[in-house]
Amino acid sequence: MFRTVLLFMAGAVVAVLTVSAATAYEVPDKIVLDRVKGNKMLNTWVDKVTFAHGFHAIRVPCRDCHHKESDKTLGEFVACRQCHTDDDPKEPSGFYRAWHSDGPPSCLGCHTQRRTQGGKNPVGCTTACHKPR
Ligand code: HEC
Ligand code: HEC
Ligand code: HEC
Repeated sequence: MFRTVLLFMAGAVVAVLTVSAATAYEVPDKIVLDRVKGNKMLNTWVDKVTFAHGFHAIRVPCRDCHHKESDKTLGEFVACRQCHTDDDPKEPSGFYRAWHSDGPPSCLGCHTQRRTQGGKNPVGCTTACHKPR
């Protein structure tokens, strides 16, 4: 309940900041991250990842992750997978690096950085994100 209220507040604050943007949006709670169509698998044991988006959205500023948001796109919060489609693991705008590059806004990059600052963010492949089937 507390979490729902906080999430609502986070949404409300952003909504106030973006009054000029005509688009309304929701802050999704859980998002299933799956490979984009046509993207080759790097490892067969890697399955879809359920991402606790709402949990993050009340702890981290939206734009720390949605790095292409600007005054022009305010309120759109385009899905990472719309741009990060390339299946080359070395391509910065590709699928793999969106979640695994060395620094934020990748999942692993942010978690690793926060760990060095005393955070409890999980960084193990199978203990954090890729739960074994
Ligand atoms: C820790 C990183 C992170 C934070 C913080 C974050 N998001 Fe997201 N957001 C994501 C990821 C990852 C996705 C899934 C993108 C995908 O499906 O490719 C997403 C998806 C979304 C979507 C759905 C986009 C679509 O078209 O499917 C919306 C809307 C959104 N976020 C809004 C927000 C708002 C508003 C905030 C702040 C209140 C926020 N996000 C904070 C990482 C984050
Ligand atoms: C509008 C297109 C677009 C969207 C949406 C987008 N990105 Fe990116 N991203 C890029 C491009 C292009 C780059 C390459 C560097 C640059 O131009 O900023 C990049 C770079 C990155 C990098 C650095 C990779 C490296 O190797 O250094 C990370 C991490 C990243 N994006 C994560 C995300 C996440 C997470 C989301 C969603 C919350 C997201 N991106 C949404 C286009 C996008
Ligand atoms: C910009 C920073 C940032 C990014 C990017 C980020 N996280 Fe996190 N993550 C956090 C923070 C902060 C916590 C809470 C840590 C704590 O409890 O001390 C967290 C916690 C978690 C947890 C543990 C949740 C729990 O119940 O304790 C998981 C799993 C997780 N993140 C997965 C992801 C995934 C998957 C992505 C990418 C799609 C991602 N994170 C991207 C900052 C980030």
